Amino acid sequence: MKRETWQTKIGLIFAAAGNAIGLGNLLRFPSKVALYGGGAFMIPYFVALFLLGIPLMLIEWVIGRYAGAKGHGSMTGIIGSFFNHSYGSRVIGSIGVSIPVLIVCYYIYIESWTLGFAFLSLLGQMPEPVQSPDYKTAMEPYVSFFKDYTKPSLTAIVFLVITLAINWVILQRGIVKGIELTAKYGLPLLILMGIFLGFVSLSMNGWKGVEGLLFIYTPDFSKLSDPQVWLEASGQIFFTLSLGMGAIATYASYVKKNEDVVKAGLWTAGLNEFVEVVIGASIAIPAAFAVFGALAVPELAKEGTFRIGFMTMPAILMSLPFGSLLSTVWFFLLFIAALTSSLALTQPLVALLEDEMRWSHSKAVNVSMLLVSAGAFLSAFVPGFIDDVDFWAGTLMLLFFGLLEIIIFVWVFGVNNFHKELNTNSFIRISKALVYFFAVVSPVFLVILLYFWGVTKLPQVLSQTEPGVLVARAFVIFVLVLIAFFSVESRRRYLAGPHM
Ligand code: PHE
Repeated sequence: MKRETWQTKIGLIFAAAGNAIGLGNLLRFPSKVALYGGGAFMIPYFVALFLLGIPLMLIEWVIGRYAGAKGHGSMTGIIGSFFNHSYGSRVIGSIGVSIPVLIVCYYIYIESWTLGFAFLSLLGQMPEPVQSPDYKTAMEPYVSFFKDYTKPSLTAIVFLVITLAINWVILQRGIVKGIELTAKYGLPLLILMGIFLGFVSLSMNGWKGVEGLLFIYTPDFSKLSDPQVWLEASGQIFFTLSLGMGAIATYASYVKKNEDVVKAGLWTAGLNEFVEVVIGASIAIPAAFAVFGALAVPELAKEGTFRIGFMTMPAILMSLPFGSLLSTVWFFLLFIAALTSSLALTQPLVALLEDEMRWSHSKAVNVSMLLVSAGAFLSAFVPGFIDDVDFWAGTLMLLFFGLLEIIIFVWVFGVNNFHKELNTNSFIRISKALVYFFAVVSPVFLVILLYFWGVTKLPQVLSQTEPGVLVARAFVIFVLVLIAFFSVESRRRYLAGPHM
């Protein structure tokens, strides 16, 4: 069985950009920026982009190509191949498969809301807008609508099933006919819809939306000493660029052997940042600024990541001419962005089952999607589940695993080896000094972050013991153990058979 490779260069770039561009860019980013004070957030954000984001992006691409050539596309196989596939190394690698699987369990549920809301908007089923300058009054119908929908309602479950089925079918079709094809149509459409909505939002109320953009881009140095802002900004960089969990490395493992991965990595990061700091910054926050004013925005952000996207945005868009249509575009934009990311979050597990367990593609996808579906239903029915899993897998484990990736892929592999691999087929030459710089600075930066993180956040989260939270933790442990089991079990198969 030969591993698939991306068919075209542009398809590869679109698939990788689709991987990175997701709800993180259009929902998570605006909420975090608003919450942490606009310009105060952007300074640590760009520092983290250059000190963590770009280096890790290149590391994952380089290592993905390297390991893919040996037939490994999951972190189990990738990390294992640096340690002679010892059990321990495969178990550690398996964490890099568990993280995306855990994330996709709630991510795909949120994705299903976007599809549901897109359809309900199109069918004229969204609540009628209330014209009021007061954001609480104007949003009221949409807040109750959202609450009723996510109870979860029957409609929500139907759309969840549809969303799971769409992902299932695309993954079954494989890398080229499934993921690459989806991205080839999805990404250009996403960018067009994004630019259109950015234009609509900025121009609202006689271009008052521009004030929202200024709020994001006026540097504010006063909060730079607050570790919380640094943590959140760095966490956002990991999440939005899909780093620290092997999702990029898995995609990179399907490149042809002579691919320029430096170029691919820079394109991935570049397109993602365009859709985050240009398009993502131009929609939700500017719209909220234009309609509800500066004071409302941080207040809205305090009420969670979903408030601005699922309640404020429809309240604003529905009150415009062609409101239902605009609302459809907004939610469909979110859906496309989320879909190309949920595929990327599931593929590492598919790769593990295929490359290591030697299962057929079809069986690998079926088992992966069964696990994801179970997790998605828990997200739907267990209160507190989403937040807790997001905390462990979507924030804490990412930073840890990112640190581990730098240590193993640069230090254990060897700076010389890494540097050589990095420059193979690269359109620019990257100096060894730069590799050394990142190999030292990025881990130090991460260790400092993790330290503050442990001091500030961990005790707070551990003190929660509601039943839903306990279910979430049990599920996290279950997934970690299950995937570690696959990783250990497959070692025997790996050693037994001739390798590709
Ligand atoms: N980067 C995606 C987003 O911004 C989320 C994601 C994380 C996707 C990890 C794949 C892997 O929404």
